[in-house]
Amino acid sequence: MSDSDIGVIGMAVMGQNIALNIESNGNRVSVYNRTGSTTESFYEERGTDKQIVPTYDLESFVDSLERPRKVLLMVKAGKPVDIFIDKLIPLLDEGDVIVDGGNSDFHDTERRIETAEDEGLLYLGTGISGGEYGALHGPSIMPGGHEEAYEIVGPLLEDAAAQVDGEPCCAYLGPHSAGHYVKMVHNGIEYAVMQSIAEAYWLMAQGLEMDPPEMSDQFAEWNERVGAYLYEITADILRQKDDRGDGFLINKILDTAKQKGTGKWSVQSALDYGVPVPTMSAAVEGRFLSAVKDERGRIGGQYKVRRPQQSLSQEFLDDLEEALYISTVSSYAQGIKLLNVASEERGYDLDLSTVARIWKDGCIIRSTLLDPIRTAYDETPYPDNLIAAPNFQSEYNDAIPALRRVVQAARAAALPVPGHSASLDYFESLTSPDLPANMIQAQRDCFGAHTYERRDAEGTFHTEWGE
Ligand SMILES: NC(=O)c1ccc[n+]([C@@H]2O[C@H](COP(=O)([O-])OP(=O)(O)OC[C@H]3O[C@@H](n4cnc5c(N)ncnc54)[C@H](OP(=O)(O)O)[C@@H]3O)[C@@H](O)[C@H]2O)c1
Repeated sequence: MSDSDIGVIGMAVMGQNIALNIESNGNRVSVYNRTGSTTESFYEERGTDKQIVPTYDLESFVDSLERPRKVLLMVKAGKPVDIFIDKLIPLLDEGDVIVDGGNSDFHDTERRIETAEDEGLLYLGTGISGGEYGALHGPSIMPGGHEEAYEIVGPLLEDAAAQVDGEPCCAYLGPHSAGHYVKMVHNGIEYAVMQSIAEAYWLMAQGLEMDPPEMSDQFAEWNERVGAYLYEITADILRQKDDRGDGFLINKILDTAKQKGTGKWSVQSALDYGVPVPTMSAAVEGRFLSAVKDERGRIGGQYKVRRPQQSLSQEFLDDLEEALYISTVSSYAQGIKLLNVASEERGYDLDLSTVARIWKDGCIIRSTLLDPIRTAYDETPYPDNLIAAPNFQSEYNDAIPALRRVVQAARAAALPVPGHSASLDYFESLTSPDLPANMIQAQRDCFGAHTYERRDAEGTFHTEWGE
């Protein structure tokens, strides 16, 4: 039997499907999982008629691979990745490639790249988006790390990726942790868009008392403009009947959202670089607020908050389309700005147009919006912000008045819209030549002699304030 082209470690949902995807392109794929029975059942159920080679110890797994060996780790992010790297190091030879395809923290990836270098191995920290379906049929793949590693494993990843207009949704993004950083920000954008969509749903449900199928129709109609996977699944979700009882499933699902951390990591990194990402941040905090349901119930009981029903008008729906649209654009704008700054700070040298291109399909934030976003970043120097890109100016001009009206109406109806409000404030702040930070400078100098700068003279100044 010939050697395998690649080996996949981790036979949970993602590993199984990416292994089958790679195999379907004419490759022989060895597979291994910590728990051998999972490998066995995967092979029995999905692999017997394919070039899948099940292995039950790491030595046999490594021995089954063609050199230079290519090992794709699809295990739980965190400690399990380190466990496998430690076990692989003595078994692999110089020039072999490890690809971590999980949602690893980019700091861990930086450290692992150094370890791999010390051992003469090549390493790629690779974000893979698209969930179970994408992994099998073509995900968006975001690799970064050693470029020589990409030369070895890139063609195989490109074949496995989603294809748009003859181009794969996979490209070498840059050195170090570029791949995992881009995947992290992808997820941050995902959080922000999901929050804005959830708010639009809530305004329709609570403010207009629309029923799920009516709201589904709205999202489907709005999606004609943005061709976004997240809008599409929202329309589908709103049509889903409850198979355990009467009515629509959405009304039976508890209003508490969990998170695995990538949204929070994006916001943490943005804070480190001083990059405002208010919609992303509102989305992460929105999930925290959702999680304290008992507390919300207790406090709500104390204040007897009464939400006026049907306080929003039908014209409001047209505004809501515009507001959601521009809050979605704003989510991408914040993520891409963060990528731009991080790229300079961390030496990734990201091509932002390429990033937009490989998000065009296979991933959760795929949308036709990525075409004009790609155009906006086609040439360097890049615009300061997507808001400043010539091809987005008329969009913002048209949509911002509607966003203002939606936020106002939601406030009047006592409905929280942190995502939309954050997108609005982001725009209002970025387009304001003057902000009240002169007061903050004065306060800092007053209580801490931190000095201040003046509008009318160069240098730093200190004043003995008051008495
Ligand atoms: N699920 C998704 O939609 C999705 C989408 C994009 C990216 N990802 C990322 O892709 C990676 C794989 O995701 P997944 O959902 O398929 O699997 P997962 O639930 O994140 O992880 C399960 C896999 O990790 C292994 N594992 C867990 N703890 C281990 C340990 N201490 N030592 C050795 N192996 C251990 C499991 O082996 P056993 O069977 O022996 O427990 C199993 O193979 C993750 O990083 C995830 O964040 C997932």
